[in-house]
Amino acid sequence: MSLTEGTIYDPNTTLSDFDVGHMLGKGAFGRVRLATHKASGNKFAMKTLSKRMLVLAKQVGGALTEKEVLKQRGHPFIVRLYFAFQDKEHLHMVLDYCPGGDLYDRIDEEKTLPLERVRLYCAEISLGLGHLHDKLSVIYRDLKPENVLLDQVGHAKLTDFGLALRHGSRKTFAGSTEYLAPEVAKLKHERDGEHDKAVDWWGVGILIHELLVGTTPFGTATMRQDLVLKNILEAEIKAPDGVDEAAAAFILKLLVRDPAARLGSGESGTADVQADAFFLPLTFDGVRKRQYAPLYVPPEPKPPPEKKKVAPPPQQASMTSIAEDEPADDADDDAEADDDLSGSDDLEGSDEDDEDDEEDDEWHTHAPVGDDPDDDLDQEIFRGFTFRRERSFVSSSSFSLGGLTAGSFASPKKR
Ligand SMILES: Nc1ncnc2c1ncn2[C@@H]1O[C@H](COP(=O)(O)OP(=O)(O)O)[C@@H](O)[C@H]1O
Ligand SMILES: [Mg+2]
Repeated sequence: MSLTEGTIYDPNTTLSDFDVGHMLGKGAFGRVRLATHKASGNKFAMKTLSKRMLVLAKQVGGALTEKEVLKQRGHPFIVRLYFAFQDKEHLHMVLDYCPGGDLYDRIDEEKTLPLERVRLYCAEISLGLGHLHDKLSVIYRDLKPENVLLDQVGHAKLTDFGLALRHGSRKTFAGSTEYLAPEVAKLKHERDGEHDKAVDWWGVGILIHELLVGTTPFGTATMRQDLVLKNILEAEIKAPDGVDEAAAAFILKLLVRDPAARLGSGESGTADVQADAFFLPLTFDGVRKRQYAPLYVPPEPKPPPEKKKVAPPPQQASMTSIAEDEPADDADDDAEADDDLSGSDDLEGSDEDDEDDEEDDEWHTHAPVGDDPDDDLDQEIFRGFTFRRERSFVSSSSFSLGGLTAGSFASPKKR
């Protein structure tokens, strides 16, 4: 069944309205699975986070901020949230399904990507980042190939806002090591320091390097973290060999250690980045309107190999009702989100285990949030999470899944 333009969902949608399918990806605190909306047949990605893991890692604030950022009115290059609900053990976010997988899958398979594709991905990402910086006053802080998804036709979409911060929030050491900007890398030793939206433009420099060359410039995920940090802070920054001249010059303007001198800092940062000669073959109006056809169109996903079946949840998830516009308690949440991060290693470092089936078993306990006297979790701290998009609909201009079968991106092993 295809996704129909203008499909209206019942705002009371909960977990029981979905058939939850195979895993699309996994991260530090949970799993992302294909979820088919039973009534319409439409496919979504459902990101499920473990409340206990979030509490243990002091990342509850990160999950609430992620929901706040994702629930904003749509942007063509940012994944959209349709619903957020919860049960006793989990938080669930129902998101645009991007059947093209992520850019890490692309590098993994293709090693390097051609210039024209990298240019369009980066233009789309820069529009997404510009929207976050200039419209939402949010710093993304987690740009890396794993967090850039491809939709059905091959356009980029940013996802994963677990590290996002409002401008002016307390800043700490957080992110994936190879992508850390120097001003963030320094925070490993200098708890609490300054960093701002310029960290995301540094991230764009690292990303273009990785997409064009196949490696990040200051070290790999298998290198010792302190060596990568030392390189970020001290190593000579050179233009990568053999890449297009404008691309190399653009990378060097982004990989400037002083954030104030970095391309993209300052009031007109987004416009300055987009005015760079690297983007000359494109117009940003055309990019915004998705007028450039991506040169790589993801193949239609095949059904995954037969695995253990996912049983339907025994009980309907309960919803702590909250209005869409209720503001998150940002200051407190951010402080909480950050507390543990100073001194922590790469946040994505815990997705190495391959015991997916085991964890899937645990995932199927969907007891509602209730007045269970034995519930040792403080459910109150998750109260701000639930979200229902009133009159939620899917526009075919930004998203179309006509004729798709179940996706095939089962548990990608990242880095
Ligand atoms: N909307 C989506 N559509 C398809 N795949 C997705 C989607 N969201 C996430 N994924 C896959 O799941 C992985 C983990 O999701 P992410 O939101 O980055 O979680 P984490 O915060 O744990 O890193 C991504 O790297 C991607 O491969
Ligand atoms: Mg991620």
